This record gives sequence, C-alpha cells and structure tokens, in this order.
Amino acid sequence: MRGIRCSPRNIMIVSGSTQGLSLISQVLYKNNQKVIVEDPIHKGLLKVISTVGYSVVGIQVDDKGINTNLIKSIKDVSFIYTTPSHQYPLGGILPIQRRLELIKYAVENNCYIVEDDYDSEFRYEGQPISSLYELNPNKVIYIGSFSKILSPAIRMGFMLLPDDIIDDYKSLKMYSDVHTESISQYVLAEFIKNGDLEKHIFKMKKLYNRKRKYLIDILNIEFTNEFKIKGQVAGLHIVVHFYNVIFTEKLINQIYKANIRVYPIQQYAIENKAEYDHEVVLGYAHLNFDEIEQGVRMLRKIIHTN
Ligand SMILES: Cc1ncc(COP(=O)(O)O)c(C=O)c1O
Repeated sequence: MRGIRCSPRNIMIVSGSTQGLSLISQVLYKNNQKVIVEDPIHKGLLKVISTVGYSVVGIQVDDKGINTNLIKSIKDVSFIYTTPSHQYPLGGILPIQRRLELIKYAVENNCYIVEDDYDSEFRYEGQPISSLYELNPNKVIYIGSFSKILSPAIRMGFMLLPDDIIDDYKSLKMYSDVHTESISQYVLAEFIKNGDLEKHIFKMKKLYNRKRKYLIDILNIEFTNEFKIKGQVAGLHIVVHFYNVIFTEKLINQIYKANIRVYPIQQYAIENKAEYDHEVVLGYAHLNFDEIEQGVRMLRKIIHTN
C-alpha cells in the first residue's frame, strides 16, 4: 500500500470507496455546481455523483489519463473526480506535469480533487508517481479500497480528508451508517499489524503479473497483429483494441452466451461512444491460466466467424 503520511485525525474508514465517494459528494454539494469527471468512467461511480444532483462535465481521457488542458475554462466546480494511478477503465497513468496542473486548477478555482486510488498496489512496470494527496493535502480527498487488494466482499475502504471538511464528513457518516462494521475492522487491523497484508500484496502482485503476461502472450498467439493493448502496466485488467472488430450488441451477446465476459468501453463512455467501439476490458485476476487460454481461444473463434 502507498506509504502516505497524514494525521490519524484525517483518516476515515468507509464501507467501500463507493460509500466514500457518495458521502463526499453530499458534503461538497452546492446548488448549481459542477463535477468534472473522466470520460470514459466507471458507470456506477458516475451514478453515485450524478444522483446527488450535480451537473457532470466529462473530460475525454487519452493514454495519459485526464486531459488537463480541457478543464482550464470550466468554472463553478465543486470537485474533480479522477483515477490518476490507473485511469478506469482505459488505464493511463497521469504524468506529474498533469498532476501539478490539476492541483493548480483546484487552488485557483477553490475546488477539491477526489483521488480514487483503487488499484495502485498492482503496478508492474515503472515507478509509482506521487499521489495527488501528497502534492496538496488541503485540496485532495484520497480514497483507497480493499476491494482489489483483498476482496470487494469485505466492503472496506479508507479516506484521507482535508481539515476543513472532516467534521462535516464525520457527521454525515454518523447519520449514514453510524460506522463501518467494527469486527471486520479489528480483523483487518490484525492482518495489517502482523505484516500479512504486505505479504499478501507481494504474493498476489507476482501472481497477477504472471496472469497478465500470460493473457498478453495468448492474445499474441491467437490474434497476432490484429490488436493493440492499453493500460497494461498496472491493475487487474487490460483494454484490448481490435483493429477490425466492432463490438456490436449482437457480438457481445454471442460472447456472453459462450460464458466469456468482455466489457465494451462504449458502455463507460459519456460522449463519443463510437470512438471506442473497437475496445473491450479484459479482466484476468480471477481466472486461472487455463481459463485465460480457453477464453481467448473462444473469443477468437467467435470474432473470426463474424
Ligand atoms: C474505479 C474504481 N474505483 C473504486 C472501486 C472500488 O469500489 P469499492 O471500494 O466500493 O468496492 C472500483 C472497483 O473495484 C473501481 O473500479
């Protein structure tokens, strides 16, 4: 896990990052204010923000994450929601220059940045870049999750919050679910104190890296020069762009019927959906090596018979 230094007063345990994002969206809500989000974005988390009543401005991402040049003229912003360690779903890693630009924007426009750091523990290539929170803890709300590290079933995450909103946040959390379930917190605290979480991450990172490489090898065997990959240096999924395939509803249904799960990027896009119709998310962490191989073989059969 990231070694971010901060006072215990600024840490809040949440029942998953989804709850953290929901509560912070409510705390920061002001009439007629906007939220800047990445486009494409996790559909569920977009819903969490828009349900609060914000008007949402989607900013198209490129291979480096959110394009900070496109936010400069936007005014009346409450917060920017971003996944800088591994843009969800396309996988870009935000360079330090863009991180500094985001912070500059937040300071000049008196808004916050919500940094969703959902899978940064699994970085396979290159060095991790400083979190936005470390660059400016007064303007950044950091959300971490145990869903990818351990399991989404434990519903546990944490937030690092700036001093000026911590009290409002605490009272909303209190009137939301009082507190995140304590027994699981004690068990997890023991797991962390014993050094078991660190060992687990170390072990899983090696395993996921092998699965990731295996998936890429099999794609190369089955599809040779028919595709390119995005976002493979971190996380538990890759995005595959097939040059000559359009993922229509009919094709996706055929793939689903064969019991293979691919997630078209179109479904995460707010605008310009057609731009992504050649691209799908492939997750590999939960599959064994045999399932990865069989899945890609089957995918080739279906795609090549269309
Ligand atoms: C972009 C993103 N943020 C956060 C999460 C984790 O959410 P939660 O902690 O509520 O399970 C996920 C999914 O695991 C995700 O894809």
